[in-house]
Amino acid sequence: MKRPQATAITSGKGGVGKTILSVNLALALHKAGERVGIFDADLALANAHLVLGCRPNRTIVDALSGQCTMAETVVESPLGVKMIAGGSGLAEVMGLSVEKRQEIIRNFSELSGTIDHLIVDTAAGIEANVIDFVAACDRVIVVVVGEPTAFVDAYASIKVLHQDTGRDRFDVIINRAANDAVGAQIFTRFRAITDRFLKVTLNHIGTVPEDERLAHAVGKCEPVVSSFPNSVSAKAIMRIAEKLHTTTPPAVDEGSIGFFRPTLSTEQKAFGT
Ligand SMILES: Nc1ncnc2c1ncn2[C@@H]1O[C@H](COP(=O)(O)OP(=O)(O)OP(=O)(O)O)[C@@H](O)[C@H]1O
Ligand SMILES: [Mg+2]
Repeated sequence: MKRPQATAITSGKGGVGKTILSVNLALALHKAGERVGIFDADLALANAHLVLGCRPNRTIVDALSGQCTMAETVVESPLGVKMIAGGSGLAEVMGLSVEKRQEIIRNFSELSGTIDHLIVDTAAGIEANVIDFVAACDRVIVVVVGEPTAFVDAYASIKVLHQDTGRDRFDVIINRAANDAVGAQIFTRFRAITDRFLKVTLNHIGTVPEDERLAHAVGKCEPVVSSFPNSVSAKAIMRIAEKLHTTTPPAVDEGSIGFFRPTLSTEQKAFGT
């Protein structure tokens, strides 16, 4: 049986559209026939549930402390996507140790039979919380907008992910571009910077245009893919989801810690089996 895929949606700079894209891509993948979950890994400012129209009352931190099972943290949203909340003011205040983060990631294996694709909506930046959850995914999508500060911050994210985890392939969504041609130009400018300093391959998986329909949908707390399926942004998001649905993510080290990866015993690791 194929194990579920995990896709991280991350960025260097905050507010570039990660949550909106996570929710809408999840919904588009659901429409394509996948069983999809969203893990809101933004522990401090969890808000994906608002756009999905559901209210999780248990979080992965409750599962971690044994107060519930992982399955009990899953909320079925009205639109058919499952929601797994990471948000917990307490977890943020206490700070999760690296061991706890690894335990959270391993605990997701309990959901293997119920999910085909996990979308991980992260916080912005390069803190350990963000990097560990991103590193645990099969595919990493970096959201970039065409502003110098976004370039600098996205470059920093990719550099840290590359150096700390050895990952060398990243997908990039250019968000809020005027149109596809401008999106392609922004991607080319950004890739010129990473090409110059890093040994990584960037794949432009799509451009999502600036769209007032999307902003309008956000105002109604609804995903644009369901409210305005014919809008330019919804169509662009559907095209990206189609690529995610039909292409295989880069191979990962199955022995490393990651969502839905088998957990090897110390002996297995030592003998490389
Ligand atoms: N393509 C777009 N067209 C118009 N508005 C957009 C688009 N993408 C994002 N926005 C606007 O940007 C806002 C911020 O988006 P979102 O909350 O997804 O960002 P984020 O990267 O998750 O932020 P944070 O770093 O705080 O988690 C949205 O509420 C929406 O109004
Ligand atoms: Mg967000």
